[in-house]
Amino acid sequence: MNILITGAGKGIGYATALALMANDSGHRIIGLSRDVSALKATENKGIIPLAFDLEKDRISGKFSSMMRNHTDHIDVFIHCAGVMINKAFEDLAEDDYLRLTNVHFKSFFFLVQELAPMMPPGSHILSIASMGGFQGSVKFPGLSLYSASKAAVACLSECLALELSPKKISVNCLAPGAVQTEMLATAFPGYKAAVSSTEMGNYIAEFALTGHRYMNGKIIPLSLTTP
Ligand SMILES: NC(=O)c1ccc[n+]([C@@H]2O[C@H](COP(=O)([O-])OP(=O)(O)OC[C@H]3O[C@@H](n4cnc5c(N)ncnc54)[C@H](OP(=O)(O)O)[C@@H]3O)[C@@H](O)[C@H]2O)c1
Repeated sequence: MNILITGAGKGIGYATALALMANDSGHRIIGLSRDVSALKATENKGIIPLAFDLEKDRISGKFSSMMRNHTDHIDVFIHCAGVMINKAFEDLAEDDYLRLTNVHFKSFFFLVQELAPMMPPGSHILSIASMGGFQGSVKFPGLSLYSASKAAVACLSECLALELSPKKISVNCLAPGAVQTEMLATAFPGYKAAVSSTEMGNYIAEFALTGHRYMNGKIIPLSLTTP
């Protein structure tokens, strides 16, 4: 399988990329991040590092031609890149808004536009949102922008499942609760999550490869602690 994963430089995305490469799977992984230093160490295992800034670099009209330098098609696209800003609503600035909405939502929107023509029937698009953006879940102060931008990703995933169904491309969304990563440790110092990035990466990798055999257009909450 040819697989593109954003946010592959560290945390959950990196763990997912490693899980996809486990047991000499033979998958060809393109791992996108701004900092690709960790991915460079995995190059000999078949992960191609792609340095790209989803907040600032132009996607529309450019990304697919860049991808074609590495592969002629994509079977699985996992949008895992994310940024956490934990700030009271009244303190959030326009720069914060642009950063989170660009990395979470706008990049997902335009990446799918660019990639869909490269995806054969039977392909799977998987977005990684968050429990915070899951309808009816517990909400936390300071996470309005983060959670709302993740809700937008989840809703877009549902819409794309419908729009891409004539091409037989499936789209699903996973909404994890807390996972022990740099993002969580920075936003909530001292908090210890019950799930490690390796555990979540293993789950996402398996779901990305097989989940679309059983479901399409679903937003799936993955949480032990958050109702
Ligand atoms: N950890 C949790 O508790 C938790 C819970 C629910 C959902 N999630 C979601 O899971 C995903 C992974 O989170 P994580 O905890 O693994 O976070 P992380 O360790 O901070 O990793 C985030 C990844 O996103 C990439 N990224 C951020 N801004 C980018 C940009 N402008 N352009 C390209 N790549 C960018 C980062 O790479 P660079 O810094 O190199 O750019 C990094 O690879 C995120 O979408 C997050 O919202 C996490």
